[in-house]
Amino acid sequence: MLPEQPIGVFDSGVGGLSVLRAIRQILPAEEVIFFGDQAHVPYGSRPLEQVRHFSEAIARWLLDEGAKLIVVACNTASAAALRFLRETFPQAKFVGMEPAVKPAAEQTRSGVVGVLATPATFQGALYASVVERFANGVEILQDTCPGLVHVIEQGNLDGEAPRQILERALRPMLARNMDTVVLGCTHYPFVIPLIQEIVGETVRVIDPAPAVARQVERLLEAEGLRNRSSGRGHVRFFTSGEPQALQALLPRLLDESGSVERLVWEGESRLVRP
Ligand code: DGL
Repeated sequence: MLPEQPIGVFDSGVGGLSVLRAIRQILPAEEVIFFGDQAHVPYGSRPLEQVRHFSEAIARWLLDEGAKLIVVACNTASAAALRFLRETFPQAKFVGMEPAVKPAAEQTRSGVVGVLATPATFQGALYASVVERFANGVEILQDTCPGLVHVIEQGNLDGEAPRQILERALRPMLARNMDTVVLGCTHYPFVIPLIQEIVGETVRVIDPAPAVARQVERLLEAEGLRNRSSGRGHVRFFTSGEPQALQALLPRLLDESGSVERLVWEGESRLVRP
């Protein structure tokens, strides 16, 4: 394994770009392969087992492409598959997402925390264990924000549709004195301005992406795999959906542009170039 090899980053769709953005900020020299499984988005309403199949095939493809580390930039895929991926590919290194209940429980003053995540994330053992270990008497309110991933995939970050979904989710939480919101889905950081507008400036919104990027940095340092070249690394973008649509969204979601290539699924267990 060499520092020049790429980091692999994947999600069901554009959500992974919120994590990629944080990685690019602190690790600009790294080469990256990004894959959005937009043929299958949303993951959040699928059975965990199916998301595990998808994640295994994606990880295998990224490893075949030479990934030195894989970031599961998706709470749902982390809930469904992170432990399984570590067992299946013991030689590979993975960084995953978990809802940031720990910092939220430490920071809340009202003792009421709201968590926004997908149904599959709430069902997974990872979420249950995070709540059990870290909630410590803090009241946790949950909402799955139905439809929000879909509108964000369409690039609708501040229109009437996301506003209605978020108001329905957040108003009842505010009525119960919630003062901290955990973004438990990597799509949601793209609507932070809207969330902040609804909840007001005094409510803290926690995006875990910067902490995940720091974890990537720590792991690369520890393994001697950090890319130390002085230039800016390239990102190669892939989608199983429509390359043009993702390409058009990149400048807005990532502050970067790039061309997007297509991958296709052979059944549920193999990704190939067309
Ligand atoms: N971005 C994803 C997450 O963090 C998945 C959203 C979805 O596909 O439902 O959970």
